[in-house]
Amino acid sequence: MARNILGVVGSPRKNGNTHILVERIVAGAQATGAVGDIIFLGDLVIQECNGCHACWEGKECSKNDAMNTLYPRIIASNGIIFGTPVYWYGPTALMKAFVDRLVYFNCPENRALIRGKSAIIAVPFEDEDLATAALVEAFFEKSLQYLEMKLIGKILVPGVTRRGEIVEKAACLEEAYNLGSRWQL
Ligand SMILES: Cc1cc2nc3c(=O)[nH]c(=O)nc-3n(C[C@H](O)[C@H](O)[C@H](O)COP(=O)(O)O)c2cc1C
Repeated sequence: MARNILGVVGSPRKNGNTHILVERIVAGAQATGAVGDIIFLGDLVIQECNGCHACWEGKECSKNDAMNTLYPRIIASNGIIFGTPVYWYGPTALMKAFVDRLVYFNCPENRALIRGKSAIIAVPFEDEDLATAALVEAFFEKSLQYLEMKLIGKILVPGVTRRGEIVEKAACLEEAYNLGSRWQL
């Protein structure tokens, strides 16, 4: 059966740096037989998790929004790309809301539905200093570890500001493509 990946774009900018980076990883994976979809969180309504924990009682999430359709896609996937630019040293609010809603998988009944899936993070940002992405890296490292997912790759791209400027960084795009093509799902 084909390997299935989800590329999640947490930037509100279409054809922006995050989108292009995620697209290259997906293209690399597709070239080696994976089926890949890109999800623009900015196109969707994803409400904040309010910790009602209905999901921990075996019920559906109490929020009636786009996550209802994303949960089955996450469960069906073998791997997820988490793409977000650095916004104020953290992920975007779109990405944070998405990850908050992964609390759905943080109970014994649902944990098995996400455990062992692999993940890649893709993070462009304006600063030239890699340390600017340190909190975003730590956020994903710790959260994905908590969910028992495997963070198998990271692409951090400093020095990009304008929409699509990342196309000038051919080496980074090649690295993204290669990461996707080597992805063991
Ligand atoms: C609200 C906001 C906050 C940002 N905060 C940072 C920051 O803390 N550090 C940084 O290096 N770049 C910051 N940036 C710049 C973006 O990370 C950069 O422009 C990135 O390439 C945007 O990616 P995109 O094209 O996928 O949206 C910020 C941009 C915005 C709009």
